[in-house]
Amino acid sequence: MKVLIGSDHAGFQLKEDIKEYLMLLGHDVEDYGVFSEEPFDYPDVALRLAEDVAKRKGSRGILICGTGVGMSIAANKVRGIRAALCHDVFSARASRAHNNANILAMGERVIGKGLAREIVKVWLETDFQGERHARRLEKIEVYEGQ
Ligand code: RB5
Repeated sequence: MKVLIGSDHAGFQLKEDIKEYLMLLGHDVEDYGVFSEEPFDYPDVALRLAEDVAKRKGSRGILICGTGVGMSIAANKVRGIRAALCHDVFSARASRAHNNANILAMGERVIGKGLAREIVKVWLETDFQGERHARRLEKIEVYEGQ
């Protein structure tokens, strides 16, 4: 799967670890930065990555900052983006099955690498269930289109 990954300075270490894990799993990874722990404004990477996920059908994004909150707020401003902030496996699975999330946001200051890897694996492997969930998402799409 094509996976776009990005972080700010506060998510840099976890982004590097998840990138390595994604490559190990055989995904096609594109790194949107950052490439150091120099302070960096999270919207600058979140919006760029989210726009590309929205454009490239079938791609997914992973955004990491200190809490994941700023990344998810910014990414969700982009039309067509359904960014889910998940720090547990149950929510990660549901965000795919029920919400068809196309971006996963996490916070390096919130969870450890082991849990983050499990969340990523489940999130990438879970399919959208459609049906009633699709109807609900359509209501958001209609609102976005206005
Ligand atoms: C940076 O200090 C921090 O505010 C940022 O990484 C993120 O947690 C914002 O939501």
